[in-house]
Amino acid sequence: MQPHHCSNRSGSPVPFLRLALVLLISLASPASSCTEQERSSLLQLLAGLSRDGGLKASWRNGTDCCTWEGITCSGPSRTVTDVSLASRGLEGSISPFLGNLTGLLRLNLSRNSLSGGLPLELVSSSSIIVLDVSFNRLTGGLSELPSSTPARPLQVLNISSNLFTGRFPTSTWEVMKSLVVLNASTNGFTGQIPTTPCASAPSLAVLELSFNELSGNIPPGLSNCSMLKLLRAGYNNLSGTLPDELFKVTSLEHLSLPSNWLEGSLSGIGKLTNLVTLDLGGNELSGNIPESIGELKRLEELHLEHNSMSGELPSTLSNCTHLVTIDLKSNQFSGELTKVNFTSLPNLQNLDLLYNNFTGTIPESIYSCSRLTALRLSENNFHGQLSEKIGNLKFLSFLSLVGNSLTNLTRTLQILRSTRSLTTLLIGFNFMNETMPEDDSIDGFENLQVLSISDCSLSGKIPDCLSKLPNLEMLLLHNNQLTGPIPDWISSLNFLFYLDLSNNSLTGEISSSLMDMPMLKSNKTAPKVFELPVYDRSPFMQYLMPSAFPKVLNLGTNNFTGLIPEKIGELKALSSLNLSSNQLSGEIPETIGNLTNLQLLDLSGNHLTGAIPGALNNLHFLSKFNISSNDLEGPIPTVGQLSTFPNSSYDGNPKLCGPMLVNQCGSAETPLITQKRRKKKGVFALAFGVFFGGVAILFLLARLFVMFRGTSFMTKKEEQQQR
Ligand SMILES: *[C@@H]1O[C@H](CO)[C@@H](O)[C@H](O)[C@H]1NC(C)=O
Ligand SMILES: *[C@@H]1O[C@H](CO)[C@@H](O)[C@H](O)[C@H]1NC(C)=O
Ligand SMILES: *[C@@H]1O[C@H](CO)[C@@H](O)[C@H](O)[C@H]1NC(C)=O
Ligand SMILES: *[C@@H]1O[C@H](CO)[C@@H](O)[C@H](O)[C@H]1NC(C)=O
Ligand SMILES: *[C@@H]1O[C@H](CO)[C@@H](O)[C@H](O)[C@H]1NC(C)=O
Ligand SMILES: *[C@@H]1O[C@H](CO)[C@@H](O)[C@H](O)[C@H]1NC(C)=O
Ligand SMILES: *[C@@H]1O[C@H](CO)[C@@H](O)[C@H](O)[C@H]1NC(C)=O
Ligand SMILES: *[C@@H]1O[C@H](CO)[C@@H](O)[C@H](O)[C@H]1NC(C)=O
Ligand SMILES: *[C@@H]1O[C@H](CO)[C@@H](O)[C@H](O)[C@H]1NC(C)=O
Ligand SMILES: *[C@@H]1O[C@H](CO)[C@@H](O)[C@H](O)[C@H]1NC(C)=O
Ligand SMILES: *[C@@H]1O[C@H](CO)[C@@H](O)[C@H](O)[C@H]1NC(C)=O
Ligand SMILES: *[C@@H]1O[C@H](CO)[C@@H](O)[C@H](O)[C@H]1NC(C)=O
Repeated sequence: MQPHHCSNRSGSPVPFLRLALVLLISLASPASSCTEQERSSLLQLLAGLSRDGGLKASWRNGTDCCTWEGITCSGPSRTVTDVSLASRGLEGSISPFLGNLTGLLRLNLSRNSLSGGLPLELVSSSSIIVLDVSFNRLTGGLSELPSSTPARPLQVLNISSNLFTGRFPTSTWEVMKSLVVLNASTNGFTGQIPTTPCASAPSLAVLELSFNELSGNIPPGLSNCSMLKLLRAGYNNLSGTLPDELFKVTSLEHLSLPSNWLEGSLSGIGKLTNLVTLDLGGNELSGNIPESIGELKRLEELHLEHNSMSGELPSTLSNCTHLVTIDLKSNQFSGELTKVNFTSLPNLQNLDLLYNNFTGTIPESIYSCSRLTALRLSENNFHGQLSEKIGNLKFLSFLSLVGNSLTNLTRTLQILRSTRSLTTLLIGFNFMNETMPEDDSIDGFENLQVLSISDCSLSGKIPDCLSKLPNLEMLLLHNNQLTGPIPDWISSLNFLFYLDLSNNSLTGEISSSLMDMPMLKSNKTAPKVFELPVYDRSPFMQYLMPSAFPKVLNLGTNNFTGLIPEKIGELKALSSLNLSSNQLSGEIPETIGNLTNLQLLDLSGNHLTGAIPGALNNLHFLSKFNISSNDLEGPIPTVGQLSTFPNSSYDGNPKLCGPMLVNQCGSAETPLITQKRRKKKGVFALAFGVFFGGVAILFLLARLFVMFRGTSFMTKKEEQQQR
């Protein structure tokens, strides 16, 4: 009960007396404040709930419903005006009887688990102004209202994050003449955006339709929306050209239409001078960024990634001095960046130009964006050396320069050590044929967690300075020409869980210190989150954090000699173990059977001898297995996980025998009875294997051979399919 409402409104010269009076009256006769019909309507709601979140305790018949939890009554006649039951764990359906609360202004049932439909009586209520049923499990469509229905007062309708389907009813739309906010995002609505959304609702300011299945064009009729501030319809199937009329909605502050099939150019964008957010990523836009972008003086977020835009960036981009994020990745932009004066973008925090065709040197003015935290210039044609001014970027945490033609690795590392906040450094596919610096003076980097200097054909050794990176989690030095042994300090990197040294010329034995790597022994993960999503070479995956990567030890294609250590069985967290194409000898240790998380095991192309250990059948998640081209002998298992792999997993071992190989095992070795039994089990194992294999192969396809290049992106279709 809120008697002060009344005293506030009364303007009475003696508010205290009035307050006391109201209190007295409502105490003396509770029923006088809540009509029988209101009480019964609310009790109908309660009756429709299968879980009431404890409402029963206060919602008792015979008591004043204005005192019930979640109910507010206002006005001199004490009518129920607010029903606020958000986040109460309610289950069941929404009673149409709520429509009998003739004074109800606001109904908030958001964040419960309500199911069933949204009663037409509420949408068409002649009193409700704010209706919020978002974050429930409501189903069905929005019913049509006869267009003869008089105008309704509803101003805010939030039905987002439910399971609604069907088309948006046009006649209902027409009677919502007071609508200011409509949020219908994250449902299953189909059909088109209403053709003239503001013809009937001239005050519409927020239209949020993202994450549905809407199709058709962006309606030209939007041009009537003179109050529209926010238009979001991303992650739908909208298509067609961006209409010129869209650029006439000059009131727009947030225009967000990502992941659709929209075409056209941004030539009219300069008219939307109030824009703060422009997100048209993941469409099929073409053309360049027009000079007129400079008119968008309030712009903070510019997302045009994954389109087919081209041309140079206009110098006028520097006029958008409030820019915080520029994401242009995966387009065909070209030319020199030096045209843009980044000095006038002091708020810039994220600049992502991945996968374009920019040329020239990295513009010096970038180094004056002192708030920059993430900078990705990967997969362009930048050349030259990094400037030492990058040390100005005190907050730079993510730097990716992969796949350019930068030179002088030694200098690059010397310069970067002064960027103390760096956690992710990806600089592979540069510095071709240079030498890995040995210089111990390359210290700093104390916060580095992910380091990739792969694919540079670097000569030299694994540098000792890496031993001073106590937080390193992922180290990728594959596809170089490094020589020498794996240093013993490797086990002192307490957080390292991903080590790819494949395709080098490393020598020596597989050091026992590798068997002591703490993160490979335990299932612990580190909580770091990437500032920008990192893309895998495969078209499927985008990684938001390192711990999404599997735990990997890849020493393949080197010149390692000696035995595979027994202790390898202690690296229980490993998902992928690749020792292929080395000079390893001796037997496959039984203990590998203890690595029960393994999804990939590749020991091919060595000189391994002896029998295949039966314990390998314990590796139930194994989906890639290769022991070909060794000198193994004896039978290939005919049951269990190992029997599910093709011949090619075993090829090139002349002394192996098995039913699938040319070299059959002696029939005396396998008695008939067990063979029969085995067959049955074999079928089960195969089905099991295929099921798991299928899941895991997808997983592996997506996650293996990580190069941090981002050369291939989800095509539009794949992106859509993924959703
Ligand atoms: C509430 O009480 C009234 C009068 O006592 C009665 O008519 C009505 O049926 C009751 N409602 C419920 C839901 O029990
Ligand atoms: C209350 O609402 C129900 C469901 O909409 C309706 O059938 C009934 O006629 C209404 N009762 C009154 C008294 O308005
Ligand atoms: C409904 O209640 C929730 C939780 O209190 C709140 O976040 C939301 O803003 C409310 N809805 C409206 C339209 O005010
Ligand atoms: C529903 O949308 C309205 C208007 O945008 C907003 O005020 C409200 O907070 C939203 N409800 C929830 C639960 O987020
Ligand atoms: C916009 O940028 C251009 C080129 O950088 C500059 O000459 C012009 O003065 C700027 N205009 C405004 C209004 O800031
Ligand atoms: C770049 O912008 C800064 C600040 O806006 C200005 O001082 C500087 O002269 C500009 N540089 C060029 C080359 O235009
Ligand atoms: C990238 O730029 C280079 C040099 O300007 C040009 O030769 C090449 O055709 C461009 N590639 C694409 C895909 O636009
Ligand atoms: C690389 O940078 C160093 C300074 O760190 C310099 O001494 C050396 O000459 C540079 N090498 C080349 C090839 O430019
Ligand atoms: C690197 O070395 C290889 C082999 O010697 C050579 O073919 C290639 O052109 C070199 N690349 C560069 C950029 O120097
Ligand atoms: C391994 O060593 C042999 C002989 O020392 C050499 O011929 C071969 O190229 C080396 N392989 C690799 C991958 O470095
Ligand atoms: C890690 O292993 C411990 C003990 O083996 C287990 O209790 C825990 O649930 C595991 N954690 C994860 C995230 O798998
Ligand atoms: C590891 O494997 C060996 C051989 O298969 C076995 O004897 C041993 O008990 C296993 N150790 C653990 C900790 O599971």
